Amino acid sequence: MAEKPAAVAPDSAPRLTRRRLSVATIHGIWAAIIAALAAPSIAYLLIPARARRKNDWVDAADVAQLVPAVPLEVAFRRNRVDGWRVVSEKSTAWVVKLPEEIVAYAPQCTHLGCAYHWDPRQTHFVCPCHNSVFSVDGKVEEGPAPRPLDRYQTRIEGSKVLIGPLRAPSRTV
Ligand code: FES
Repeated sequence: MAEKPAAVAPDSAPRLTRRRLSVATIHGIWAAIIAALAAPSIAYLLIPARARRKNDWVDAADVAQLVPAVPLEVAFRRNRVDGWRVVSEKSTAWVVKLPEEIVAYAPQCTHLGCAYHWDPRQTHFVCPCHNSVFSVDGKVEEGPAPRPLDRYQTRIEGSKVLIGPLRAPSRTV
């Protein structure tokens, strides 16, 4: 008498085999690695530039240090993003208390970029390279400079003068 084959139970649901578990684990690890690598790029693209620019403001001087119409040269450090690197750069500015505002001039002459200085006897900024002369409010008085001194954005917080990014250059001489 022939034996009847054992009945096979219908199995419509996929079974969790060891092989499937291994494949799912490998896919999960790959997904975690890709997410970890992509997160900095996505954050760089999605975080608004304005939020990153908050760090552009540095504490450069104390209001109490400033004598009206007498420029003070101040040095400060600022972080600059260069691709993926953040570089700390030293910079300077001439900070002046004018009657209606406190301004900070970039330290380069607007002619060809030489470093100018404040001459207390002439009470003017003087560039030694081609003899441009600027008034205390940054306007060109003499020489080949094509525009007034470039200014940083400034704001006062408590007793501190904060210096921000450079303003767009003024075209008025
Ligand atoms: S660089 Fe200052 S006058 Fe030319």
